[in-house]
Amino acid sequence: MKKTILALASIPATEMAQIENDFRVIKLWESRDPEETLKDYRLEISGILSTYNSKGVSRRLIEALPNLEIIGQFGAGYDNIDIKCAQERGIAVTNTPDVLTDDTADIAMILLLNVARRTVEADMFVRVGRWQSGAFPLSTCISGKTVGIVGLGKIGSAIAKRAVAFETNIAYYGRAKKDVPYTYFDDLAAMARASDFLVLACAGGAETRDLIDYKMMEQLGPKGYLVNIARGSVVNEEDMLIALRNKAIAGVGLDVYAHEPNVPEELLKMDNVVLLPHVGSATNETRSKMGRLVLQNFLAYFAGNPLLTPVNLA
Ligand code: 8YV
Repeated sequence: MKKTILALASIPATEMAQIENDFRVIKLWESRDPEETLKDYRLEISGILSTYNSKGVSRRLIEALPNLEIIGQFGAGYDNIDIKCAQERGIAVTNTPDVLTDDTADIAMILLLNVARRTVEADMFVRVGRWQSGAFPLSTCISGKTVGIVGLGKIGSAIAKRAVAFETNIAYYGRAKKDVPYTYFDDLAAMARASDFLVLACAGGAETRDLIDYKMMEQLGPKGYLVNIARGSVVNEEDMLIALRNKAIAGVGLDVYAHEPNVPEELLKMDNVVLLPHVGSATNETRSKMGRLVLQNFLAYFAGNPLLTPVNLA
């Protein structure tokens, strides 16, 4: 008999169909009464397919499913999962790192380039016919500047590689110095002061919540740009609005927000910001790979084989 997987949100149709070949999938978002659906299937569910933008895998949900064995996250970050609870229950957790590294690093660079060179604004300038009335204002040069990366993990490293090609100097802040030809800072404020672009590529969750607050933005300074492709929670959004209002920083490029899909009204009216709707991994190719990896992890788990990409719960 097929094992039952509770899917909290949809993933690309082809990969969902592949999962449905091997598993019975309960699509919670299609249910008129999710609480009732959970009650109906609670004893049968042995896996959860979760995504960052679904309701999250809370302690309450985990505790409601006594036969839950594995949580397969469609995404690299897993701050929507109560990892402590999964660990206590001995539930395996997998995610989809690596396959989305390049796309997400590309989006970081797209934000950095666009916010500095004002290209989104410039495109609009042409479209609305303002060019006829004069030249577009000048923007900010990228080469020769310093890009400070917060979190030199897989995505942070891929950003560094790309930023080097744009002839920038790379600095990074993280738990430990690495064997890389970039400048290490163990003091985030010092790195912010030394950076022209502060790029956030660290994990979300309690450890990094509000890491970038008003004081940190002041260190980045009125000529500095903030780029966030990590999690909205890493930046204090209220502080960021004040910093932008006060011109304490030059601008921001964001793919993530504190309360997605809600973006503060005030940001929408600012022209020194570039706003993307959390599209770091959002290409056909990468989302397919992510879906396949979720399936491969489920299959490996239920066949008693090692997981391909386990989340280390220790
Ligand atoms: C989401 C992401 O997973 O990988 C992550 O951590 O934030 C994204 O790739 C994606 O938007 C699907 O929810």
